[in-house]
Amino acid sequence: FDPDLLQDLCVADTSKGIKVNGFPCKEDTNITASDFFFAGLATPAVVNNSIGFAATQANVDSVPGLNTLGISLNRVEYSPNGGLVPPHTHPRATEIIFILEGELDVGFITTANKLISKTIKKGEVFVFPVGLLHYQQNNKDKPASAIVAFNSQLPGILVVAPALFSSSPAIDNDVLGRTFQIGTDKVGEIKSRFAPS
Ligand code: GLV
Ligand code: MN
Repeated sequence: FDPDLLQDLCVADTSKGIKVNGFPCKEDTNITASDFFFAGLATPAVVNNSIGFAATQANVDSVPGLNTLGISLNRVEYSPNGGLVPPHTHPRATEIIFILEGELDVGFITTANKLISKTIKKGEVFVFPVGLLHYQQNNKDKPASAIVAFNSQLPGILVVAPALFSSSPAIDNDVLGRTFQIGTDKVGEIKSRFAPS
């Protein structure tokens, strides 16, 4: 999904703070194997939030050699009894998930507002098309774990609830009240549950 590259490789040079469509390339003489290496997915991330998930990202921010290559990978852990990756979208990538351990209830919503959902287990794969809202939940009593791959070096993530209820600056309560057809007092109550970003 990312644009095609015009050279063998282009290790991200993030030292100058310059962005093109992606990052400028490091000089060839400075390139080493470590630019293409990341050990961060070897161990499961620790889930330390009440929503019940933790993700480690192997994208261009952690693996500079991914710059211009149009691919990246996450490892995700889900707590037992409801651990949730809440509804979100990746503006720049399709996602494919492979279950390492456990079982997940997953789904995405099309632009026709149709929910496509399924329970998937260890060794199985599911696809979330680019831009569409999706989620995963672990409804079993054991932890679950997955690898997810993206056809972007930096897919981006927009999580719906915090985007709406803890943006900075905040969205007007009246906008959210009309959107969800609830009173502004209820909007304030929901906002108070999300830490300000
Ligand atoms: C799961 O959907 C993820 O994007 O990590
Ligand atoms: Mn996702």
